[in-house]
Formats: sequence, structure tokens, C-alpha cells
Amino acid sequence: MIIPKPSKIQESKEKLIQGQNFYIETLGCQMNFSDTEIIHALLKEEGMIPVKKAEQAEWIFLNTCSIRDKAEQTARNKILNYQTLKRRKKSKLSIGVLGCMAERLKKQFLEEEKIIDLVVGPDAYKSLPELMERADQGNKVVNTLLSREETYDDILPIRYQTNGVSAFISIMRGCDNMCSFCVVPFTRGRERSRSPYSILREMSILYEEGYREVTLLGQNVDSYLWSDKENNKSRVLNYTDLQDRIPFAQLLNMIAQKYPSMRIRFSTSHPKDITQDVLYAMKYNPNIARHIHLPVQSGSTTVLSRMKRGYTREEYLDKIYDIRKILGDSCAISSDIMTGFCGETQKEHQDTIDIMKEVKYDHAYMFTYSERPGTLAQRKYKDDITQEIKKQRLQEIIQLQQEHAKERNLLERNTIQNILIEGDSKRSAQEWQGRNTGNKMVVFPKDKTHKLKPGDIIKVRITDCTSATLKGEWVEKE
Ligand code: 5AD
Ligand code: SF4
Repeated sequence: MIIPKPSKIQESKEKLIQGQNFYIETLGCQMNFSDTEIIHALLKEEGMIPVKKAEQAEWIFLNTCSIRDKAEQTARNKILNYQTLKRRKKSKLSIGVLGCMAERLKKQFLEEEKIIDLVVGPDAYKSLPELMERADQGNKVVNTLLSREETYDDILPIRYQTNGVSAFISIMRGCDNMCSFCVVPFTRGRERSRSPYSILREMSILYEEGYREVTLLGQNVDSYLWSDKENNKSRVLNYTDLQDRIPFAQLLNMIAQKYPSMRIRFSTSHPKDITQDVLYAMKYNPNIARHIHLPVQSGSTTVLSRMKRGYTREEYLDKIYDIRKILGDSCAISSDIMTGFCGETQKEHQDTIDIMKEVKYDHAYMFTYSERPGTLAQRKYKDDITQEIKKQRLQEIIQLQQEHAKERNLLERNTIQNILIEGDSKRSAQEWQGRNTGNKMVVFPKDKTHKLKPGDIIKVRITDCTSATLKGEWVEKE
């Protein structure tokens, strides 16, 4: 559903793309998947029809990711496969490249890889219908303009791949941090926050549709800041002490209090920006999940300084201390960790190992550094750690992290927890799977719980675990 702003209502005219089939494949982060839901809504509004298989489509879109070289290689291979499909196919097939690679590689896509018909970047999806029509008339079309305002807050995303229980809500776009290794500020542009009015409206629709968990998404949710430029306070659902500026902690409080039976998650927090207000919002709202994704990247202050992360090892540990003090030891903490950044010495690598031992993450995403064209790191530093050492260090931290995850999971044994049922477990239809507040997957037998359904929150006693999953049993009465 698109709610047109009066100025944007267009005269109705026959749409060339109306009735055409489309298929979107999405690579990369949650933000990309969330964008694909917006694109679905935009294309359906034009009368296009989503199909489940690429082979059935008249338009195939690949929503791409640029974060590491490997992600770009994956996208290139997919594009090659789609090109083969296009050559073989007798009927119409057009191919569009969307997302982060669009901005970086638009020229190359259109000139060298001639079979691509359209290239559109993350802030230009509203121009898709018009550009597709132009492409259908035989033009090669591109729009990779980045915007300072676009938040797509007038578009209600269509959840096309959903368990019907948990959904993502994008609360901001872009990033102003300019970490030296990261391509995101270039591909997704400047940071901007979406209006709380439109976030709450989306919450209310999700709630009505039966969703019971949302994840508020942003590259750096702690710098969410909405200011009521139009001074239209009354639109914000009568939230009484609403001020002109709403920071993230206040947004969390508003959402959690308005929807006490929804579980609220958020990602990603930034160690330099997360405030005690956010931690207290979690403490005083039991429906805000006890999980913080707080990427450390490296445990070495000197590496963090080359990365331009804006905090030292000690400042990061202070934030961990705050979390433990305010939310207790059971709050789950996860991280992103990168090995082999430019000039990383063995001692600096050891600092990362040590900080992992100190924090004991419940979960971590771990990567080797991949140089990205145009970033500060690429211009200023040499990518001088050999692939072999990067991989060796990665192996070391992966192994350590597995031990920590298991150790943390073992602490949960014999506790009774609220589990939000998501559906059948992957292994067996005789088991449910659902998540606990710390975002850990819990699997338990259906047995006497066969009358339950996805979306129910029930009490489960944790009986066993691996490093990846908790096992449990339904507790009828505590
Ligand atoms: N190389 C490797 N990993 C990267 N990330 C971001 N940029 C790079 C890069 N150039 C990782 C960071 C970030 C996560 C989303 O991806 O750890 O937190
Ligand atoms: Fe990239 Fe840093 Fe922004 Fe995260 S905070 S998206 S790592 S620039």
C-alpha cells in the first residue's frame, strides 16, 4: 500500500509494466531485505505480479551488497546466471541491478555487462516504475542518486517471505560514520531518520496482522534522531510528552509502551553512541528484548583508531560494563569482528582475542578484512596482511567464539524462559522452534503443545544446548 502525499498524486495513465511478472533476489544485510519489501510494495502498486521463480519472470531484479569483495563476486555470478537465462528464454526478460553495487558499478554494468537493462540505487526505488517503462522501450536506464531525505515512510512494505510472526521495520537510512574500511556511507548515503508517526503506523498494521516481534533496523540506531520540522505533534498518536526532538531511547519507550505484547528488537548499536537511556529503556520495558548487537570490530585501540571507529578498547569495555550493570549478566551481547585489517600486528590480533575472552559474546559475525575501493582505508593504508594470515586469525577467533557461545548457552540450562514460537523446527515437524529474549533459537517437542501456534509466547525450560541452539521442554505450570 502506498499512501500518496497530495503533491505526489499523479494523473492515472496506462502503465506499460502493469500485469508483468517480477522476481527479486536479495543478497546482503537485513536492510537490503527490508528494502526488497519496499520494492515489492512499489511494484505491486503498479499492477505488477510477484512470482516465486526467476524463470517465470519478465523482470528479474538482483538487490546487491558491496560490503565485502565476496558479496560482489556472488552478485556477479548471479548476474551471469540470469544473463544465460535471458539468452535462452524466448519471451521477454529484463534484468535490473538494485542496491549497493548499483552506485559503485553503474557504468561497468551498463557498458561492459550490456545485458543489464536497468541500474537503480537504494534511494531511487520510487523511480523504478518510470525507469522500467523506459527500459521496456529499449533504453538503458540508471538512477543511483542518493538522497538526504528519502526514508520511504509513505510506503507500507510487503512482507513476501515471512513466518508471520517477526518482521523488520527500517527506522533510518544511510550512515554518517565513515569507518575507514566501510563502503556503506558511499553506497547508502547520508544518515536520515524516519518519522515516529510512520514507524508507529507500521507497528500497528503489523500487530493487527498477527506479528509479535519487530526488529528496528538502522546502520547505527543510536544516532536515530527525529525532529518535528512541521510541528505536527498531534499526528504522533497523542504521545503526551513528545518533544520536538525524539532520540532513539524515546522512540524505544514509545513503541514498547504502546505495544506491550510485541517483542521489540533493534540493530545495530554503535559502541560510541549507545546511551544509558537506551539501556534503561530496555530495563524498564520487559518487552524490549534482552539482546544488544554491539560490533567491536577489533580489541586493539590502535587498530580501532585506524578504523576510525570513534572509541578505544577501554571505552568499549565501559559500555559492556554499563550493560552488565544495568541489565545484568543474562543480557545477550553479540558482535561483528574483523581480522587482518591494514597493518594488524600479532599483538593487535591478540588484543582482539583478549577482548573476546573478557566480554564472552553470545554470538558473533566474523570476517576477514576486504579492501573496498574509495574508502579511507584503501586510500591511506596498505592491505598488507596476507590472505593466509587473515584466514588463520579468522579461524582462531571462530573457534574461540564457538567455545564462548557454548559456555554462555550452558548458563541458560534449567532456566525457564519466554519463547515466541516461530514455526516448525527445521529438523522435524514434531518440534517447535522459537526465540528467547536473547535472540537464541530454542527447539522443543510439540507433544502436549500441539494446540499452540506460531505467534504464541510460552514458558520453556532449557534442558540442553549446542553452541548454536538451545533445547527445551514446555512448562505447563511454573
Ligand atoms: N571488510 C570486511 N568486513 C567488513 N565489514 C564492513 N566492511 C567490511 C570490509 N571492508 C563488516 C563489519 C560490519 C559488518 C556489517 O560487516 O564488521 O560491522
Ligand atoms: Fe559502515 Fe561504520 Fe556505518 Fe557500520 S557504522 S555502516 S561499519 S560506516
